[in-house]
Amino acid sequence: MASLPRVLLSTSSFSHCYCPQLTTISSLKLNPQPPTTTRRRRRFSVFAMAESNRTTVLVTGAGGRTGQIVYKKLKERSGEYIARGLVRSEESKEKIGGADDVFIGDITKADSIVPAIEGIDALVILTSAVPKMKPGFDPSKGGRPEFYFEEGANPEQVDWEGQKNQIDAAKAVGVKQIVLVGSMGGTDINHPLNSLGNGNILVWKRKAEQYLADSGIPYTIIRAGGLQDKEGGVRELLIGKDDELLQTETRTIARADVAEVCIQALQIEEAKCKALDLASKPEGTGTPTTDFKTLFSQVTTRF
Ligand SMILES: NC(=O)c1ccc[n+]([C@@H]2O[C@H](COP(=O)([O-])OP(=O)(O)OC[C@H]3O[C@@H](n4cnc5c(N)ncnc54)[C@H](OP(=O)(O)O)[C@@H]3O)[C@@H](O)[C@H]2O)c1
Repeated sequence: MASLPRVLLSTSSFSHCYCPQLTTISSLKLNPQPPTTTRRRRRFSVFAMAESNRTTVLVTGAGGRTGQIVYKKLKERSGEYIARGLVRSEESKEKIGGADDVFIGDITKADSIVPAIEGIDALVILTSAVPKMKPGFDPSKGGRPEFYFEEGANPEQVDWEGQKNQIDAAKAVGVKQIVLVGSMGGTDINHPLNSLGNGNILVWKRKAEQYLADSGIPYTIIRAGGLQDKEGGVRELLIGKDDELLQTETRTIARADVAEVCIQALQIEEAKCKALDLASKPEGTGTPTTDFKTLFSQVTTRF
């Protein structure tokens, strides 16, 4: 593997980020009067405008555990969004419904993702290298399992080169915003996740985050705590920075909550050009978060 990148591990990075206001359908007021021919024509044109004001969003890693929730939520909010997904295989495409808006591509092969990215307004990156457990591990014998990354799918290739390919392709089509989901732990080079399969996964993720922050594209970097497959919308979400939440008892979050934060980041100005650590209080403590504008307003860090 190539020598490890020098990655900024502090909040000292300030990129030059232009954050324009995204127009959403909610800003359009439909005419409530009964339709005459003229009004009907006017109403038609308002609907046509509304159609053109929907935000086309591509979710990559759409077959993954968080990505498929984001894709589903976008489809459910079809008044505001035109959803697209990028998956790696026909099998993943079928898993999320097999619709025509699901593209097949490999983020490590830049050309293969161009059709999915063409014409989008926003990109949500939920791709990640996935460590595999080496065969032969027997939990009854104690010890720890060992992990490896498949050929062509290690963190340098997926979490750095693959994310970079997506950012470059999105920039080339003039995308208005990129939401990138990463992981807490990146400030610690000795974090145990870095030794998984000798992949240095957090280092490569951090390098891609830095590349995005420096890209000039409005961005939101969400560094999630330990992900859980639990119901969303029932916990108070917590914002942190510089992995401070890892020193507390609240360092996990439901994938469904991460998915919701990704979508809220697309529509709330206060989320733009910011990086945040994200976790939640345990269910039953605190007040479930519903005001995402206030949540994003708490974020003070750009990286
Ligand atoms: N697990 C945790 O506790 C944890 C904690 C904090 C943050 N995170 C981060 O949160 C994010 C979401 O995690 P998750 O567990 O929901 O993800 P996941 O289920 O592991 O999904 C990752 C997705 O990336 C796709 N992918 C990998 N290589 C690709 C390539 N070359 N081209 C196209 N797609 C590719 C995979 O496609 P296939 O389906 O084809 O394999 C998969 O769908 C990740 O960045 C993860 O590192 C995880």
